[in-house]
Amino acid sequence: MSSTIESKSPREFSSEQVAEFEQAVREGGEVVPAGLRDRLMSARALVLLHEEKKLAAIAALKMPLTAYRTRVSESAGVDLPASTYPFELGWVYVYPFARGRRYSQAVSSKALSKCDGRGVFATSRADNAAMHA
Ligand SMILES: CC(C)(COP(=O)(O)OP(=O)(O)OC[C@H]1O[C@@H](n2cnc3c(N)ncnc32)[C@H](O)[C@@H]1OP(=O)(O)O)[C@@H](O)C(=O)NCCC(=O)NCCS
Repeated sequence: MSSTIESKSPREFSSEQVAEFEQAVREGGEVVPAGLRDRLMSARALVLLHEEKKLAAIAALKMPLTAYRTRVSESAGVDLPASTYPFELGWVYVYPFARGRRYSQAVSSKALSKCDGRGVFATSRADNAAMHA
């Protein structure tokens, strides 16, 4: 099965590709739908992995909003200063049909490659064993 992976700034993708990405984020759940497109367009990079012509996995290097950063920091009990951790790895989602092929690793690595050596944080549920792996 051949796959292709693309990573660039949201504005460099077509509106159809951005819509495709947004749909995948929604499928993954755990997001506040209001304002999602704006948050998505402010990301540093979106990553789309296609299997043949079908979107199989996504990830992003996000620029978290201050209020969100503060909430996450307080709830995790970890300092997350923007100067040290300007980015967040997020919106990692693999469509069920494509799971178990290490695509989560591929899209996460690609997103992380866009951080220019600067700090990145990420959050996951404590029981999400696949994401932790
Ligand atoms: C979490 C998710 C992205 C993982 O993608 P995936 O295609 O299922 O997993 P991968 O094939 O990329 O495997 C990644 C690693 O997890 C391991 N893994 C996969 N499923 C696992 C499970 N249920 N339990 C434990 N480990 C698991 C794999 O063995 C692999 O580790 P390895 O490289 O050491 O062998 C995917 O299940 C998903 O989209 N879930 C719903 C959305 C989500 O939870 N996103 C993350 C939010 S933080």
